Amino acid sequence: VNAAPSVRGRSALLADAAATRLLGRVFGGRAEDGDVLALCGPLGAGKTTFVQGLAEGLDVPPGIGVRSPSFALCNEVPGRLLLLHADLYRISAPEEAEDLGFRERVGSEGLAVVEWADRFPDLMPPRTTWLRLDHEDGRRRVWVCEREPGDLEWLSRVVLPDAGGKERWEWRKIPPPWGPRSSPLS
Ligand SMILES: Nc1ncnc2c1ncn2[C@@H]1O[C@H](COP(=O)(O)OP(=O)(O)OP(=O)(O)O)[C@@H](O)[C@H]1O
Ligand SMILES: [Mg+2]
Repeated sequence: VNAAPSVRGRSALLADAAATRLLGRVFGGRAEDGDVLALCGPLGAGKTTFVQGLAEGLDVPPGIGVRSPSFALCNEVPGRLLLLHADLYRISAPEEAEDLGFRERVGSEGLAVVEWADRFPDLMPPRTTWLRLDHEDGRRRVWVCEREPGDLEWLSRVVLPDAGGKERWEWRKIPPPWGPRSSPLS
């Protein structure tokens, strides 16, 4: 058996939707112009919930609801930075996204967040931060992948509510979320 390539990341349990949202809010608060986040994980894993938190962290006016872009590739939401919210679930080939201007828009202005980015990982710019959400005992587990050594140190200071008291941000090795469908190594 070939050793599966793996990436290092930090993982934590998200006890409820509020925790998923809180994590999104933290990422939104830290976001800088041109940042790109890729969200992977199965149906119902909390990707859109995370984006709702991102919007809070970007000071998007509360009246503007964040929903998955069903009939468009991207929604643009005004905030401290423009929030570009894309979803590749209904895209059937990368060319379709390219024709809709995906490459020009993602990573150029504001904060871009892409649900189902693992469907067409080659569309994502190299500086993308990859996150994976998974179901775990009715809750959710998140992995944030390290891009370069040390860039996730700040995550250990993010306190997640009601995660059983013991749960911390632990280091894990996982198969790359941008790879073929895969399950966590450990
Ligand atoms: N940490 C959590 N624990 C339990 N439930 C959660 C958690 N985070 C989100 N949820 C719930 O999971 C459900 C699905 O969330 P959401 O729509 O954000 O998933 P999604 O990954 O965007 O799904 P899709 O793949 O259909 O776009 C929602 O009811 C949400 O409240
Ligand atoms: Mg969604």
